[in-house]
Amino acid sequence: MPKPKVFATHRLFEAARKILQETCEVEYWAKPERPPREEVLQRLKDKEGLISLLTEKVNEELLKAAPKLRIAANVAVGFDNIDVAACTKRGVVATNTPGVLDETTADFAWTLLMAVARRLSEGEALARSGNWKNWDLDQLVGTDVWGKTLGIVGFGRIGRAVARRASGFQMKVIYTDAVRAAADVEKELKAEFRDMNALLTESDFISVHVPLLPETRRLFDAAKFDQMKRTAFLINTSRGQVVDEATLVAALEAGKIAGAGLDVYENEPLIHPRLKRTNVVLAPHMASASLETRTKMACIAAENVVALFKGQRPANVLNPEVLKAP
Ligand code: GLV
Repeated sequence: MPKPKVFATHRLFEAARKILQETCEVEYWAKPERPPREEVLQRLKDKEGLISLLTEKVNEELLKAAPKLRIAANVAVGFDNIDVAACTKRGVVATNTPGVLDETTADFAWTLLMAVARRLSEGEALARSGNWKNWDLDQLVGTDVWGKTLGIVGFGRIGRAVARRASGFQMKVIYTDAVRAAADVEKELKAEFRDMNALLTESDFISVHVPLLPETRRLFDAAKFDQMKRTAFLINTSRGQVVDEATLVAALEAGKIAGAGLDVYENEPLIHPRLKRTNVVLAPHMASASLETRTKMACIAAENVVALFKGQRPANVLNPEVLKAP
């Protein structure tokens, strides 16, 4: 029996390649830059499997170019790049990599929060510049993190992991979500539910952890920034489109909020030029980027593909109805 053919838009990590090698014949895209779209479509003509990153749109156009495709495995937890309904219509199983990146992403939300509050980017630039003349009482004074109020928007796995870390900083944790968490979860994390308006007005730091959905697109707009404290910071490690970026720029320029820590942007890899301010810490979408976590993500995507081709149920199916079909 010939092995099913798979195209991986990245060479992945060795551990993931090992998982794939027995079951599939994999063509890897090994160049450091992302493959041009035309190349992806061309290579998918005879493939039954696709392993791709969140930069690849798995949409009608791609599915049409891949008539034999049976599985599209995203190496990411967010799957706003996948048209799941279109996959379902064509009987293609779509999968993602939930669970393994929650703690790492939460660590990074905290990295941004601490960095922007304590002006680390400015401090590091000064330390490296050769222009640091002396210690001074009011030099690079930032904002205390400890003892403040942390508002979490989106209280799923990552939001909760962020909340768990707050107790060491003696912070008050409040959260908002479409669904209120169970009482035992609130108790364990010492997190209090608020509606969005109350969260906006009470928080000193707001960390965003919602998936990108029609109802969360541009969730943070001018009205939200108007409600935030002028001393508050916005931290976003979710998706850039959750924040209206031009409005965020306007709020920062008008001093409506104190600053922002951003890992994600509306039009990645483009970053709004006026976000390049001293009170904004910018990162290039790297919240899950630890070697351990990225290796696990690649392995999970590989396991999802292998499971399907072995006639098993992949662990992270986004459209289970495809597997139920006769
Ligand atoms: C990263 O942004 C992911 O969704 O895994």
